[in-house]
Amino acid sequence: MTGGHFFKKTMADVPLTNKNILLRADYNVPLTDDGQIADDFRIRSSLATVQALLTDGCTVTIISHLGRPDGKKDLQYTLQPVAKRLSELLGREVRFIDDCIGHKVFMATKKAPKGSVTLLENLRFYPGEEANDSAFAQQLAKQTHADYFVQDGFGVVHRAHASTSAITQFLPSVAGLLLEREYSVITKAMKHPEKPLVAVLGGAKVSDKIPIIKALEHAADTIIVGGAMANTFLARRGNFMGSSHIEPDQAETIDAIYEAAAQKVGRQNADNYIVLPTDVGVGTSLELTATRLDVSVKAIPAGSYALDIGPDSIARMESIIAKARTVIWNGPLGMDELPTFAQASTRLAQLLAGHPDITSIVGGGDTADFVIHWDPHHGESFSHVSTGGGASLELMAGEKLPGVEALLDA
Ligand code: 3PG
Repeated sequence: MTGGHFFKKTMADVPLTNKNILLRADYNVPLTDDGQIADDFRIRSSLATVQALLTDGCTVTIISHLGRPDGKKDLQYTLQPVAKRLSELLGREVRFIDDCIGHKVFMATKKAPKGSVTLLENLRFYPGEEANDSAFAQQLAKQTHADYFVQDGFGVVHRAHASTSAITQFLPSVAGLLLEREYSVITKAMKHPEKPLVAVLGGAKVSDKIPIIKALEHAADTIIVGGAMANTFLARRGNFMGSSHIEPDQAETIDAIYEAAAQKVGRQNADNYIVLPTDVGVGTSLELTATRLDVSVKAIPAGSYALDIGPDSIARMESIIAKARTVIWNGPLGMDELPTFAQASTRLAQLLAGHPDITSIVGGGDTADFVIHWDPHHGESFSHVSTGGGASLELMAGEKLPGVEALLDA
């Protein structure tokens, strides 16, 4: 197996051949109203690790959570459909056990054929999972007869839970291929990017992104702001925003962001460093039927909502991106659920996909959902689409991730 110089032990650093492996994945996938998997990106992203383990003769037991069932068995959140999808994608049988601890698990994993794959039921059906309970973690480790624990659930390593933290007390624990890749790619982009590094930030709330904005102000050469977040910035810069969603309580935060920008590039350059839209696409409602009108940010009609960035701002974004070597994109640039207001996000996706010379890192959550649906190649048109939402934000912000820290040091 390939191994880099990761700061934690990886699958390449321990003798896994023919062993029983307990593999933590993040199969917290979106479901449709009738319980189908709406998007299997996280399942696809785990395949390389599962396949590498199988090639090495391992017998693999996979654990995951799905949704927030609150410590109770709630079959709305069963992992059974994931077992079926995983089996289709792997092209081999995946056994599903409808519990994650207890006698049934003990017997099923004891009798597991060598080289088989078993998925256990949702960890969060037990309160011990989120409580990071040692007794629960010990049951997971012992009752699955595991020799090693492989952490590959990048999307959940910002949580200190039994299957990310306490479990490492009971088994030698190493990083899986996805975890290692996510961590290395994101950390490199933040710490040693090919420059210029352009950050494109969108999404609804400034308040959700304060730590990452601070980290990007340190790392990035230009920060382009879009999405509803831009409305809060524009309002603070004195623009009338009609009925647009803004966060008035973020005034001080925005002032601090501009202060830091002034320190970095000089006050007179701050507006070329933090690039706000100069025009926006407004709608008269938030309904699917809303029509779009592109207006200057100085001429937003009363009662209208700014729902996308406008053509002049998109053109400016294009010229900035054209000079970039690395682009980090986190957060939708418009109200992408309404196709008329997905123009900026669509254009950015096209630009990044059309420039393989730019290292493009798409942060997880809504942004990843958008590009995966847009991209006929399931996200492969970008250098890296993260499977992590909160985890990728925290990593970009330079925070330590408990589920990574707990692994064996390299
Ligand atoms: C995610 O989707 O971000 C992870 O699976 C973590 O889920 P959580 O926010 O419910 O802990």
